[in-house]
Amino acid sequence: MIEVRNIKKSFGDKIVINDVSSIMKAGQCNLIIGSSGSGKTVLQKCMVGLFEPDEGEVLYDGKNFLGMTQEEKTDIRKEIGMLFQGSALFVALARAIVLNPKYLFCDEPNSGLDPQTSLVIDKLIQELTIEYKITTVINTHDMNSVMEIGNYILYMYQGDKEWEGSNKEIIFSKNQRLNEFIFASEFLKDAKEMRMLEESGKIPNDRNMDELMK
Ligand SMILES: Nc1ncnc2c1ncn2[C@@H]1O[C@H](COP(=O)(O)OP(=O)(O)OP(=O)(O)O)[C@@H](O)[C@H]1O
Ligand SMILES: [Mg+2]
Repeated sequence: MIEVRNIKKSFGDKIVINDVSSIMKAGQCNLIIGSSGSGKTVLQKCMVGLFEPDEGEVLYDGKNFLGMTQEEKTDIRKEIGMLFQGSALFVALARAIVLNPKYLFCDEPNSGLDPQTSLVIDKLIQELTIEYKITTVINTHDMNSVMEIGNYILYMYQGDKEWEGSNKEIIFSKNQRLNEFIFASEFLKDAKEMRMLEESGKIPNDRNMDELMK
């Protein structure tokens, strides 16, 4: 489990992470989503110690990372696997996993991949996460990933934690910014409305696809 408590980070006058707290559990995929520049990469870098937050704490299984000695930090780092944004994926993923990490950080693992390959990567990460009880933290823009593997989702908006929940909850969220981000296209907006009507029993959910496709 990784817990971030009241993380703040600025560059010059610009607040990039504004008092973000979250608990990311072991054995599940914890996703950080949000539009470009919302602070996903900076937050992950604060978590692994590549950036020092101005305020706040990062706890690895209850131990405060920022308060550790250099030696203790090195020990924790040995348990961390990382996939950076833009890295050669299958290569990089194998290298991260072979070290048997307790914590796995992936920054946009699907960027530049087609939807099918992305799904293969997502499933692989999810299986490894469950099997080895890894605390996996994934930054992503990819809505397929959100719906497929998002056990826990933290939505960032301009440095703030705007919403958190699971992929089961996200579809019913009334947060307007989140909905605009997730259901950006008219097609997805319609799909969401349909799903909500089905769930609330207002329309039957036993559609016959063969009939509809005629
Ligand atoms: N080293 C840095 N120095 C100054 N500003 C930075 C630095 N790194 C990031 N920023 C700024 O912090 C903000 C958040 O950037 P970040 O890279 O975390 O966004 P992101 O959500 O990961 O975006 P993307 O989806 O494009 O990867 C941006 O405004 C960015 O310009
Ligand atoms: Mg980024």
